[in-house]
Amino acid sequence: MFLTLEGGDAAGKTTQAVALERWLTGLGRTVVRTREPGGTPLGQTVRDLVLHGDHVAPRAEALLYAADRAQHVASVVRPALERGDVVIQDRYLDSSVAYQGAGRVLDPEEVRGLSTWATEGLLPDLTVLLDLDPASARDRRSGRAAEDRLESEQDEFHSRVRDAFLALAAAEPRRFLVVDADRPAEAIAADIRRAVQPLLEP
Ligand code: TYD
Repeated sequence: MFLTLEGGDAAGKTTQAVALERWLTGLGRTVVRTREPGGTPLGQTVRDLVLHGDHVAPRAEALLYAADRAQHVASVVRPALERGDVVIQDRYLDSSVAYQGAGRVLDPEEVRGLSTWATEGLLPDLTVLLDLDPASARDRRSGRAAEDRLESEQDEFHSRVRDAFLALAAAEPRRFLVVDADRPAEAIAADIRRAVQPLLEP
């Protein structure tokens, strides 16, 4: 089973990934918890280049995320799925469509096509979208460490990203669960468990 978490920065993806891992492990499942960018040694280098370097041209940015994804799917995600493990992943191709498509204003279909090529078409069984308005996200981020290159974009950028995520979810309602992330973590975790439960084999 391949589960991904999506949403803006500071939406609480990591908290929910940890909670979901704990629950599934308690049910006896073997879980691989991972993330993009940076889920492999190559990906760590890409992550540094794309998040902490100087200006990166939009198309270069899209290609770097796609390269990270290709390496990650080939060396971590597919092997785990073939072993029968559950993969819980922080961000996947929907992040590229939202951030590089709507955020950087590249053609969303082309950006998606790049990821489809990079991953040989691997799609998650379930994608949880943690939806949070950009102003709340900014308040949450203010208590954290220095912002990276994408986090420091204006609210208007983050609004476009949010709208893009919601449009992606509306286009694929069977794959997506949209949850209001402006609630206590436990309430959100319960919603996620309810959506994952039917996907577990009897
Ligand atoms: P993330 O690891 O979620 O941020 P952090 O760990 O710092 O909270 O993601 C890093 C940034 O990369 C985030 O701003 C979103 C961006 N991103 C893209 O623009 N495109 C992508 O395809 C992915 C996976 C992430």
